[in-house]
Amino acid sequence: MIIGTDSGLAGLVEPCRLNRRIYTDPAIFELEMERIWGRAWIFIGHESQVPQPGDYFTTNINHRIPVVMVRDRDGSVRVLHNRCAHKGAKVVDKRCGNARAFRCCYHGWTYATDGTLLKIPNEKGYDGTGMNPKDPQWNLQPVAQYAAYRGFVFATLDPRAPDLVTWLGGAAACFDNLCERAPEGEVEVAGGVLRYDHACNWKLFLENLNDTHHPQTTHQSVVDAAMDYLGTLPPEATKERAEAEMIPPFGGSYENFEKSGITGFRYGHHYDGGKTSIHANYSVNPVYRDAMVAAYGEARTQEILSFNTHNTCYYPSLTIKTAVQNIRVVRPLAVNRCVIETWSFRLKGAPPEMLQRTLLYSRLINSVGSMVGPDDLESYMRIQAGLEGTGSEWVEMYREFGRDRDEGDRTVGTGTSDLDMRTQYRAWRHYMLGEVA
Ligand code: FES
Ligand SMILES: [Fe+2]
Repeated sequence: MIIGTDSGLAGLVEPCRLNRRIYTDPAIFELEMERIWGRAWIFIGHESQVPQPGDYFTTNINHRIPVVMVRDRDGSVRVLHNRCAHKGAKVVDKRCGNARAFRCCYHGWTYATDGTLLKIPNEKGYDGTGMNPKDPQWNLQPVAQYAAYRGFVFATLDPRAPDLVTWLGGAAACFDNLCERAPEGEVEVAGGVLRYDHACNWKLFLENLNDTHHPQTTHQSVVDAAMDYLGTLPPEATKERAEAEMIPPFGGSYENFEKSGITGFRYGHHYDGGKTSIHANYSVNPVYRDAMVAAYGEARTQEILSFNTHNTCYYPSLTIKTAVQNIRVVRPLAVNRCVIETWSFRLKGAPPEMLQRTLLYSRLINSVGSMVGPDDLESYMRIQAGLEGTGSEWVEMYREFGRDRDEGDRTVGTGTSDLDMRTQYRAWRHYMLGEVA
């Protein structure tokens, strides 16, 4: 089999089997960066990270293409290639900050916050050479397309990609729900970022996201410990009880997870839950509830709070938890290495306890020092190690195959179905091989 030819690639991803080389072969990783991460809409950041003109945030759009998200003087948020038009240096080096203009460290070319070239030191050397500094080719270049949905900024390197709203499809409802959980209808980034290296292929993180057949094994020890701890609490320890209640749902039965359902969309997006999820039985802060009812009325509040998804994946770069108000962002680095970032959000108009709950969840479940996320990472690292072996070429995703139901713009299955994986690999074949999304 020749990897790199489309017929070779097509043989690696079957409807219910995946060849181990898609996780281990550096040449396939490079092709994924070009064809998936170079064609899909990639999450860049949230508009609230750059509230003032001149505020900026830098990241990579795939494993190596640097971009800068910046609030321009006109108030708009732009996504520009972070690459000097002169000799190519990365212009903005800090992770985030505020700048009146961007000045390249090498020869001092200086750009406005909309990317326009403002100044070339000792410019007279170009007089009569045919080089026109006003030509837009000497600006910081915008990425092919960028757009925001409810404050979440995405960009794509593909000028022919469908517009963002079309690409999000029915999965956009989860962004709506996240924002509607704020009495003011908006969220903003708060509380910093948790960022840690994962020694595994980027796809393993996404495959785990709505794999509801692993918590009963992978997280058993921490669930047992949390249950023991809860048993020691006196009735008046309500704060400690609220903290500890985040852990036991990870030990839910197979039947409970089956009831939650999985919903898949075009382009690889999917979520677990909807009617119920592991977040469904969290107690609701009464001050928050009152603020919601004042903003939306009783019936609508009930509707908003009972849309209980667990994780939503916007393939391939973003996963969100609407009920907990945090997101995880995938930044691939190499075939066996990626970085996962957790960002937390404040519900505008909600009491401060809601942000504290979100931050607690991020620390308790997602951080490097948490009790749940590192269990998962251990599994990813063992999978990565196991797939280097040649005992078998395949991993499988047959669970509930043939029992998924098409419902217009979405496909629905039971909560323990591998529908989430099959949805992702349909998108993989779309981007890698040009098939229908
Ligand atoms: S490379 Fe940026 S000014 Fe020369
Ligand atoms: Fe897990």
